[in-house]
Amino acid sequence: MNESEIREKTAAGRAFMHMAKEEDPDYKTDQYSGVKQPPLFKDPVSEDIVKLPMDFENLSVNNDFLNVVNSRTSHRIYREENITLRELSFILWCAQGVKDLRGKSYATLRTVPCGGARHEFELYLCIQHVEDLKSGFYHYLPQSHSLECLQEKEDVKDFISVSMNGQDWAKKAGVIFYFDMVAYRAEWRYGIYAHRIALVDAGYVSQNIYLACTALGLGGCAIGSIGEDVCNEAFGLDGDEEFIFLGHPIGRVKDEDHQKELDFYSFVHDYDL
Ligand SMILES: Cc1cc2nc3c(=O)[nH]c(=O)nc-3n(C[C@H](O)[C@H](O)[C@H](O)COP(=O)(O)O)c2cc1C
Repeated sequence: MNESEIREKTAAGRAFMHMAKEEDPDYKTDQYSGVKQPPLFKDPVSEDIVKLPMDFENLSVNNDFLNVVNSRTSHRIYREENITLRELSFILWCAQGVKDLRGKSYATLRTVPCGGARHEFELYLCIQHVEDLKSGFYHYLPQSHSLECLQEKEDVKDFISVSMNGQDWAKKAGVIFYFDMVAYRAEWRYGIYAHRIALVDAGYVSQNIYLACTALGLGGCAIGSIGEDVCNEAFGLDGDEEFIFLGHPIGRVKDEDHQKELDFYSFVHDYDL
């Protein structure tokens, strides 16, 4: 790329961040043009469905909010020990749990905020170390707080590596969450501005995963650098109407390992020194 191309692409990126006054005064999104709204959820495609437990009172959760907020950090060193199904259920509930319905089927109210309550994401999972679940590919069904198994796969390490763009430390994760953007769910309401809103929305989901993990004594890390094509293929997404844009591995962690990680990633902290 030459300098003017770089400047052009940078300007396009900045323009995407602005909610510019639309030049066409008649521009209306589909919602305001009376187009029927798309479904709130994707239906299951598998009959292999696991209902997730909701007895969170049986979990050991750090309820000291300030302590959880202050100790949240990115963890990249995991012990290959099982996460319990209840712990996974808790994290999924915090990430995307449906608390209520607005209207007959106009919108869901969830544990995270979302522009226009469109909740334009589906969460796909690659499970490696979860008690009572076979390793493989899964899809979270927020409408019933369940997981559907899409494909059992004994060894998921190679997939994890390519899906995380070669960030091989993630191969020891217990679970990796993959954020799927169901584009039209947001575009129906926000049209050409949907994508900026969606990226903001994704931050809340990822942060709730971080905080839920911290409260449970687990660790994780948001991952922007992913192998998008391989993720889309694994979960049967077309890469246009729907596509994976963020990953989030989680796993069991130990304090002493995290210290090693801070030493390894010291450039993050020492860059200005
Ligand atoms: C959107 C997003 C994308 C990220 N992508 C990566 C990534 O690809 N690889 C990685 O090792 N860390 C990634 N991180 C983690 C950041 O490096 C980390 O949050 C940052 O260094 C601050 O550290 P902390 O989370 O411990 O406070 C990402 C974080 C966010 C929020």
